Amino acid sequence: MRSVVTGVGGFLPAHVVSNDDIAQLVETSDEWIVERTGIRSRRRADEGQATSDLAVAAALEALTNAGRSPADVDLIIMATTTPDLTFPATAAIVQRKLGAPPGIAFDIQAVCSGFVYAMAVADNFMVRGLSRCALVIGAETMSRLLDWTDRGTCVLFGDGAGAVVLEPRAGQGTTADRGILGFSLRADGAKQDLLYVDGGPSTTGTVGKLRMQGNQVFRHAVVNISEAVLAAAETAGVTMPEVDWFIPHQANQRILEGVAKRLGIDGERVISTVAEHANTSAASIPLALATAMADGRIKPGQLLLLEAMGGGLTWGAVVLRL
Ligand code: ACO
Repeated sequence: MRSVVTGVGGFLPAHVVSNDDIAQLVETSDEWIVERTGIRSRRRADEGQATSDLAVAAALEALTNAGRSPADVDLIIMATTTPDLTFPATAAIVQRKLGAPPGIAFDIQAVCSGFVYAMAVADNFMVRGLSRCALVIGAETMSRLLDWTDRGTCVLFGDGAGAVVLEPRAGQGTTADRGILGFSLRADGAKQDLLYVDGGPSTTGTVGKLRMQGNQVFRHAVVNISEAVLAAAETAGVTMPEVDWFIPHQANQRILEGVAKRLGIDGERVISTVAEHANTSAASIPLALATAMADGRIKPGQLLLLEAMGGGLTWGAVVLRL
């Protein structure tokens, strides 16, 4: 049994924040941000627009594209590091807002690797026959976690959501099957200090703000991600030349290119949305997938390689045939 992506959706809040807008708040420039990150703009959720609202919009588009309705959904896995509330899980809030029937709904917290983790978890539910129609969503309002006086972080992140519908289909057990073919997940909690939020319910009683040693995260990114990608590819039984599209977590154009180069994947096969979306954490991969499907680049039947790294540190990769 394979977990097959039958629909994809994405949603971006309307409010565009340019690099020049941020240069009004902190000592930075469009030139510096573009050169070091590739980011030109990002979206910001309006006041009153919660992570669940972004998630619902992306989920509805994914369901429509799958020819399904909320009534079909029996499993919602939500990857987010910016939940609406400490509890209940934002997945349960999304279930209520969608009007989906009672089923399984929970959140996954693996920061920017959340979508990769969520796909792997969903795959396990599906191949065990526990779900007929799952929504896997990555959605974030990162703007709410940022310290808008810290130029080292506030320029990097954006808000958005992406979602996929997964349905079980019998496969032949070969790499020609549609669906998730393999994945690898990693975490190294010893590197927490490189990227974290300095608050939480059981420590400060506050939400906190994102803190990052950017150049240290950068140092680990290319090597760590490349190792995880190769491990996922080996599990799936595919090689890099067979991959049609490489869909990296959209953290920084230099990291995207560094990983692709190390893996021998040429630039034409890399989906990059970082210029307009910035880093939307767990939302970035499904949002990039939705963007490249909507513009006709990614087509059903193609072999996709998804990868991410984020706070934890966590990282991982998923190989799937669309
Ligand atoms: N504008 C202008 N100058 C800046 C800015 C800015 N926005 N931010 C930092 N600088 C300055 C620093 O203060 C420093 O100045 P100094 O030399 O006078 O001290 C100088 O630029 C160099 O700083 P570095 O941090 O060494 O710059 P670097 O080239 O590493 O670029 C960046 C910084 C863009 C953050 C980069 O390190 C990066 O992208 N790292 C990866 C971050 C990442 O991907 N994080 C997300 C992981 S996903 C997740 O889980 C959230």
